[in-house]
Amino acid sequence: MSGRVAVVTGGGAGIGRAIVLRLAHEGARVAVLDVRPETAAQTLAQAGGAGLALACDVSDSAAVEETFERIAAELGHPDLLVNNAGAVGVEHVRRVTPLLARQRAEAAGEGVKTPLDALVRLTDEDWRRMLAVHLDGTFYCTRAAVRTMAPRGSGVIVNMSSICGLEGCTGHPHYSAAKAAIIGFTKAAAKELIVQGIRVNAVAPGHVDTSTMRGEVGEQRAAIARSTPAGRLATPDEVAATVAFLAGDDAAFYVGAVLSPNGGLLT
Ligand SMILES: NC(=O)c1ccc[n+]([C@@H]2O[C@H](COP(=O)([O-])OP(=O)(O)OC[C@H]3O[C@@H](n4cnc5c(N)ncnc54)[C@H](O)[C@@H]3O)[C@@H](O)[C@H]2O)c1
Repeated sequence: MSGRVAVVTGGGAGIGRAIVLRLAHEGARVAVLDVRPETAAQTLAQAGGAGLALACDVSDSAAVEETFERIAAELGHPDLLVNNAGAVGVEHVRRVTPLLARQRAEAAGEGVKTPLDALVRLTDEDWRRMLAVHLDGTFYCTRAAVRTMAPRGSGVIVNMSSICGLEGCTGHPHYSAAKAAIIGFTKAAAKELIVQGIRVNAVAPGHVDTSTMRGEVGEQRAAIARSTPAGRLATPDEVAATVAFLAGDDAAFYVGAVLSPNGGLLT
């Protein structure tokens, strides 16, 4: 990564922060983008300060365009883009998680009786926001990056999907739809862009032990870990390692691949 310019969206927390730290450790100069700029600045400081911390809501097309112009002017043209920014919809997760736990208990006894009423309670706004942050954001940032990668004939893009995009997560239809769409987008973009020297791939992690995850599903963490064959959640660093592999030259023949560090949840 030495001398390369990387852009990481949602770099202010969790997996995004781990990705920034890993890429910076390998010598990249990183533009840390986050809708919460103070957290992006904290990440950059932890990474040693060689880069930029910028406020950017990836679901805002104009803001993304402006941000990429600033990155090109102040840090250089990006060699690597990691589309990681994501939001789970905290209220929804808080409501559905205990119901899922009840369903798991019922499944071990006389059968599931409790309805989740997850899908029917989603508002238009919940649906739109989920797709806007994950899918629109991935498209806007990819488009902006490719504009400068294509003329230079090289670049790497890594998109963050989820196991929910591979198999569908009960109670999270909007999140699953967004993450599955990211996989479709990744594959089509990969086949189109490889002829211009740009590699596009995706990572689809299982359950990851981030502070957001800890806060929202705290009491259920043990059950989630037990439901994973490896018996634990992934660390953000393990996901960052997968991203770093796809970002590097060792992955030169990976085009449109989806790597899933998931502890055996889906084999
Ligand atoms: N934690 C998990 O178990 C898990 C599993 C699979 C996939 N993922 C995916 O990994 C990515 C990171 O998740 P995380 O667990 O680290 O989440 P997190 O909530 O800890 O961090 C997400 C970061 O994205 C930022 N963000 C949110 N909306 C944004 C926007 N519109 N524009 C720019 N930044 C925005 C947040 O401010 C935050 O800093 C997400 O795409 C998520 O869907 C997470």
